[in-house]
Amino acid sequence: MFAYSKLPFYILVLHTIAVDISTLKTDGFVRVTYPDALRTSVHSAMDSWKNFCALPSEEKLALSKNDRLRDFGYMLRKDSGPRADHKELFHVSKKDIEELKIRTAKIKDNRASAFIFAIDHLIDASVPLVREFARAISAQYSLPDFETRVIQSKDRWTYRYLHYFGGDILAHAHTDRGDFTLHLNESHPGGECLNYEGTWTPWPVSNEETVIFPGMGLQYLSESRLKALCHRVQPLPETKNTGRYSMVAFIDIDLPFRYNDKAKRLQDFKPGFNYTIPHEEFKRLFVPY
Ligand SMILES: [Fe+2]
Repeated sequence: MFAYSKLPFYILVLHTIAVDISTLKTDGFVRVTYPDALRTSVHSAMDSWKNFCALPSEEKLALSKNDRLRDFGYMLRKDSGPRADHKELFHVSKKDIEELKIRTAKIKDNRASAFIFAIDHLIDASVPLVREFARAISAQYSLPDFETRVIQSKDRWTYRYLHYFGGDILAHAHTDRGDFTLHLNESHPGGECLNYEGTWTPWPVSNEETVIFPGMGLQYLSESRLKALCHRVQPLPETKNTGRYSMVAFIDIDLPFRYNDKAKRLQDFKPGFNYTIPHEEFKRLFVPY
């Protein structure tokens, strides 16, 4: 006979994602095997992004604000020069979903609306994992309200979809500006992070696993006990021609300070500069916000 008294325990197990953050001290990132439901949602969002990229330009641009400074919807980067970016990308936050749904309703090809639907679903599906990571940080780094503030900022988490067209360098070495980042899925290898010994090592993003790592905001908040992880994407022979698709989530809470990117771009620092500098010096890179 089914033991109903044990039901809450099973529900708890099914809905809990174990996140061990001890590797932040040694590797600079945490790897998490996807629970089934989240893995399905990640794969569906990735497939829908590839389908969206195949749409004609005018349909993709209908989901743009045509403004380089506004991180909204579809963006196309075709810069020139030594730091040239050749990519198309898409930024979505929960707060933008309704506007995007209205815009996609006017596009005949349903690949656009399927993409927005998949992102919306993914944002909701990733909440338990984001919460567990934030909860572990709160507990182990004595940041009591961090978990609450992360969840309160859910409408502003930014999901970034990238399609690099190829070329020699895909993403220059940099740290992320926000609090923490999930590298959710990548179509090819090539992602690397700089370990604390100064060696570039491939990271284990795959169809089964994600990596989560701190950005500049969390290094500031933790008084440099946590380090923003330096990372880059190297080209492979196949991605030089076929390009590379990826998706990440930037989790950023509402704080009264932020990294001052007007003073210096994060890509312009020496890789790993932030691993060793004293916190007093690190703090000077931030301004009130
Ligand atoms: Fe990054």
